[in-house]
Amino acid sequence: MKKVIFSGIQPSGNLHIGNYVGAIAQWVKLQNESEAFFCIVDLHAITVPQDPETLREKVLDTAALYIACGIDPKKAHIFVQSENPDHPYLAWLLNCITPFGQLERMTQFKDKSKKQQEGTNAGLFDYPVLMAADILLYQTDEVPVGEDQKQHIEITRDLAEKFNRDFGQTVKVPEALIQNETSRIMSLQNPTSKMSKSDNDPMGTINLLDGVEIVSEKVAKAVTDSGTEIVKREDKLAISNLLTIHSVFSESSIQEIEKEYKGKSYAEFKKGLADLLNKKLDPIREKYNSIREDVKFLRQILDEGASYARSKSSKTLREVRVKMGLG
Ligand code: TYM
Repeated sequence: MKKVIFSGIQPSGNLHIGNYVGAIAQWVKLQNESEAFFCIVDLHAITVPQDPETLREKVLDTAALYIACGIDPKKAHIFVQSENPDHPYLAWLLNCITPFGQLERMTQFKDKSKKQQEGTNAGLFDYPVLMAADILLYQTDEVPVGEDQKQHIEITRDLAEKFNRDFGQTVKVPEALIQNETSRIMSLQNPTSKMSKSDNDPMGTINLLDGVEIVSEKVAKAVTDSGTEIVKREDKLAISNLLTIHSVFSESSIQEIEKEYKGKSYAEFKKGLADLLNKKLDPIREKYNSIREDVKFLRQILDEGASYARSKSSKTLREVRVKMGLG
């Protein structure tokens, strides 16, 4: 039996190299050996205000980017969360066993609700329960994500254990799959803050679809540390972050890159990194441009993905409903 893996990304903005390094790069490898579900989580995206027309386009942008990054729809199931109503259905059922206090302690909720000036909506508060439903519906073994999702996987595990305890064994308790070294890519402008879609400073984030010149400019203007050495060290947060990015895209170890740049300047290292990124992002941009306009092709993949996803999730949902005395 193949392992089941499930993961997702919000279609709320341009995907960036943090999403690639923290999540998608792992997905591309895992799709060969597992039953893989890669979801575009639009129901999560609407927990912050979205323009409806733009959101619809972003869903297709994200599907095209998944494929451009190497997700193969013949191997993995790509689908849109809102096209499988089992997700919000299970989320409701799980809500009824979720301790309120545990949701109040979620750091992402605390951060995001602070940013919502006109009061926080209930969807944002409930976000982790929907995420738990996403994962548990597929009897998932592993969830490949970046480090920022760790707390959400923990609550998912807690809810799975609680459900199984209260109603009898029903859902698999999933494991987070987080790569220590690469699970947290930092902003190029502030190496103490995570690279993020919602960063106010666009220079901090390299988007997968940024053009060659933009990538080169962002790398050239990335902040550096004092000193001149190109080494990964706790007191050299900015250079360490750039080394991590280099290491993922060059598939070399940090030691190899340190050796390559020994005695060279920050400027030389940055030039090498920008060239590397452009070389690796070029085929992604090209593939994206060649498929994004083919809405029929993308829709077919998403329709097939949703239909397969429903065929799996409906079994878990049925069992959960029966156990809870519904239907
Ligand atoms: P999202 O859309 O914020 O991010 C998608 C994935 O990218 C990872 N990531 C990063 N990794 C390394 N460094 C960074 N700077 C960085 N920024 C983002 C995230 O950890 C994530 O893996 N709640 C999720 C979406 C979701 C989900 C799920 C994920 C909904 N349901 C079920 C897994 C399983 C989120 O907002 O990801």
